[in-house]
Amino acid sequence: MSTQPSQPTRLKDKVAIVTGSSSGIGQAIAIRLASEGASVVVDFRSHPEGAEETRSKIESAGGKAIVVQADVSKIADTQNLVDQAYAQLHRCDILINNAGVEKNAPFCDVTEADYDQVLDVNLKGAFFLTQAFVRKLKAAHLPGRVLNISSVHEDMVFPNFSSYCASKGGMRMLMRNLAVELGPFGITVNNIAPGAISTPINKSLLEDKPKLNALLANIPLGRLGTTDDVAALTAFLASDEAAYITGSTYVVDGGLLRNYHEQ
Ligand code: BGC
Repeated sequence: MSTQPSQPTRLKDKVAIVTGSSSGIGQAIAIRLASEGASVVVDFRSHPEGAEETRSKIESAGGKAIVVQADVSKIADTQNLVDQAYAQLHRCDILINNAGVEKNAPFCDVTEADYDQVLDVNLKGAFFLTQAFVRKLKAAHLPGRVLNISSVHEDMVFPNFSSYCASKGGMRMLMRNLAVELGPFGITVNNIAPGAISTPINKSLLEDKPKLNALLANIPLGRLGTTDDVAALTAFLASDEAAYITGSTYVVDGGLLRNYHEQ
């Protein structure tokens, strides 16, 4: 008798690309989608060892993954991600636009290089990778799922992170627009908006005790989120169970976004 726990199979026979899956939220999503039956394209830009860790965790749990290096800010790389999915895994049903960067600087000090990097990875990358993904589905008359990992800051201000907020706000309107444009083709488009999740992107903030405590005081559920909190919702929205859901943002933030109160 097998000693393996029985796995849910909501994503059986599906293929998913997860950008930025060498660490943090992307890594947890890749592992979760694979545990539900999807074969996963693990994308990394500069940390092959993180991508290999994702792959080995997936494979040791009995799942399937390939690793592809791609800098999503380069259009040729986004096309290659989709091409590799089809060449090695023969289809591509689910796209998770997760890769993201943020830069902390007062508005007047933001450099062109930092602005370009944030907008190019977070927004341009998602835009053109989605285009490459959708072109193939449309040509084959197949449905699909696009999920953007945006942020509570697609809606909520974040002083000193103006380029990040511009990118995530753009991602929100991109999602809404594509949901309408691609709905007739059976392609759903939604955003997942994490709040304060403990990952490498906000390492410096989370290591600063006073800042961390101030942040925690704003979270009604009283803790940081985990990458698994985000991955669980992603698996549902990527599945057939979410077939009638498109054009919205789903927040995973412990109540942060709603927490205004006066002393
Ligand atoms: C950012 C984090 C921040 C969190 C809550 C996220 O989108 O990446 O740096 O702590 O939002 O403000």
